[in-house]
Amino acid sequence: MSFQSFPSHVKLVDVGPRDGLQNEKSPVPAAVKIELVQRLQDAGLREIEVTSFVSPKWVPQMADNAQVMAGIARKPGVRYSVLTPNLQGFEAAISAPRPLWPDEIVVFGAASEAFSQRNINCSIAESMERFRPVVAAARDKGIYVRGAISCTVGCPYEGDIAPERVELVARLMKDIGVQHVGVADTIGVGTPLKVQRAMEAALRHYDLNDVSGHFHDTYGQALANTLACLEMGVWQFDTSVAGLGGCPYAKGATGNVATEDVVYLLHGMGIDTGIDLDKLIDAGQFISDFLGRKPNSRAATALLNQRKN
Ligand code: HMG
Ligand code: MG
Repeated sequence: MSFQSFPSHVKLVDVGPRDGLQNEKSPVPAAVKIELVQRLQDAGLREIEVTSFVSPKWVPQMADNAQVMAGIARKPGVRYSVLTPNLQGFEAAISAPRPLWPDEIVVFGAASEAFSQRNINCSIAESMERFRPVVAAARDKGIYVRGAISCTVGCPYEGDIAPERVELVARLMKDIGVQHVGVADTIGVGTPLKVQRAMEAALRHYDLNDVSGHFHDTYGQALANTLACLEMGVWQFDTSVAGLGGCPYAKGATGNVATEDVVYLLHGMGIDTGIDLDKLIDAGQFISDFLGRKPNSRAATALLNQRKN
């Protein structure tokens, strides 16, 4: 019997402060967001998606983006990323003095036309024209550019999405100079083989080192989907502390897979993440307490129960 070989190290990007909190109806004070970032970096996260520079009319929760970026105490070796859907957002993200700039920006498109319209108010083709100057300006300033492709296996408006659509968007992103693509299952409908096919489509245009998985856990498949991508050699994933989140334009979709659950999985497989699971659980407990709910993580729940004994 032979065993699959897996990457020896995995990088997790905690998207909790952005993807996690963007969906919260009640305003979360900037100070709480800042403390969450602080706790995540103290737990060993090496990349944190902090906020988004989008229209405050569309996503009011992220309206304090500049305040949050200015308030975080940066730790050497940690990368801070933000979403910038257009030049207006990018210019806002770099309007502060250089030490407050993000290390990385994310342009976010979709493999589904309907989702592109609902989420960013333009077609896929138009989105690329909006992203093109953003990508050029960011790279000119030495800011790394990641692209997110939403709805790579299913869309709340169009249903199943074929891998060819993912390949097309990956190619378009590559053409405009996006350096890395994240394959997102926005509504968490994917199962391992479907997710592998979507990832394979992105890999036709991007190197294995330049792709990541971003799995929402709506149907409880995100850990299985993560494992399926690990089997392909993918070693970068977006996860959300305490399983926070959802997308305001993907009704009913729940949060990303919990960072705690993925760390438990990886450490159990002997894969290094650089993350201290105990401190991560504390970070998840901190934000969950603020939101008045329990962490949406099985591993966190189990380990918190164990602490009580
Ligand atoms: P638009 O209405 O087409 O933009 O929105 P516009 O250029 O026509 O401008 C209209 C108004 O928006 C103007 O204000 C602009 O100033 C303002 P007004 O004159 O009416 O007062 N505006 C902005 N304000 C602040 N920052 C900006 C900005 N741009 C325009 N950057 C836009 C286009 C993209 C801005 C809008 O559709 C939007 O903000 N959408 C929000 C999308 C969003 O944040 N979705 C959630 C994040 S994506 C996600 O969660 C998926 C992901 O996790 C992967 C996955 O799971 O799939 C990444
Ligand atoms: Mg997401």
